[in-house]
Amino acid sequence: MTAIPTTPMPDGSTIPVFGMGTWHMGEGRSRFDAEVAALRRGLDLGISLVDTAEMYGSGGAEQVVGEAIAGRRDATYLVSKVLPSNASRQRTISACEASLQRLRTDRLDLYLLHWRGGTPLEETVRAFEDLKAAGKILRWGVSNFDLDDMQELAAISPDCAVNQVLYNLTRRGLEYDLMPWQQQHSIPLMAYSPIEQGMLADHDALAEIARAHDATPAQVALAWVMDKPGTMAIPKTSNPDRMAENLAALNLRLTDADRATLDAAFPPPRRRQPLEMI
Ligand SMILES: NC(=O)c1ccc[n+]([C@@H]2O[C@H](COP(=O)([O-])OP(=O)(O)OC[C@H]3O[C@@H](n4cnc5c(N)ncnc54)[C@H](OP(=O)(O)O)[C@@H]3O)[C@@H](O)[C@H]2O)c1
Repeated sequence: MTAIPTTPMPDGSTIPVFGMGTWHMGEGRSRFDAEVAALRRGLDLGISLVDTAEMYGSGGAEQVVGEAIAGRRDATYLVSKVLPSNASRQRTISACEASLQRLRTDRLDLYLLHWRGGTPLEETVRAFEDLKAAGKILRWGVSNFDLDDMQELAAISPDCAVNQVLYNLTRRGLEYDLMPWQQQHSIPLMAYSPIEQGMLADHDALAEIARAHDATPAQVALAWVMDKPGTMAIPKTSNPDRMAENLAALNLRLTDADRATLDAAFPPPRRRQPLEMI
């Protein structure tokens, strides 16, 4: 089993820097068993963090996760998300209870607001605090929040544990302002779509670096994300072999020359850019 490094959160607890995504899982009965098997392979390899959401497969992904973690809840770090349309005080609580039922567990390690909608942030935060007090979630955070949203949230509560955002070599805008702000506040940045939905696995610039390390382009993409302090990666794969391949990115050490090559192919931002989302 690979020991996965962790990064600290504002409450003093830690979170693994590598986890498993589940978007597009649970969308069809025919793939259910294979998706469960892929996640179980990940757990066997020592990957505890599973990222899911009520949105994925309209609850289907949470059912896949529930099956995969059955009997091994204590070895799992469970993350799920509430839709903005459910983010009122009462609906957040009901949505969380429905997620717990599909996941067949009594608690989430982390519950995120999937993206910002029309509900005032104070109201969703109050619902999160109610869920925390009831032991149904251990901590809460947000997703797709840009710097101004994070600053507004910080004025309401100091307890946001993470911000999950789109971040990979082709989506570097947040390095200009959001990433340094989160680092300064010790709020981990959970990078979603770290392989740009699989597209970086075919990129020539990554292939060249991968060859030099006897690695794969996907591993280079993941190692690059996790190279940054306080930054985590949650790639999704339904392929058990790729689960091991992606995890092994933790063993890949990029050199300064590699970083310079990647900066030339994917230039860092020179000015503020609005946060991208998929
Ligand atoms: N908060 C949000 O708004 C938000 C938005 C998007 C995603 N997410 C979360 O982040 C997770 C990851 O993002 P993502 O699923 O969009 O994209 P991703 O992890 O960048 O890429 C997933 C795609 O890449 C393929 N893949 C995985 N490993 C590979 C490898 N080693 N070589 C080649 N191809 C590989 C997968 O196919 P196979 O399955 O066939 O391997 C899948 O098609 C999601 O699953 C979800 O949990 C959150």
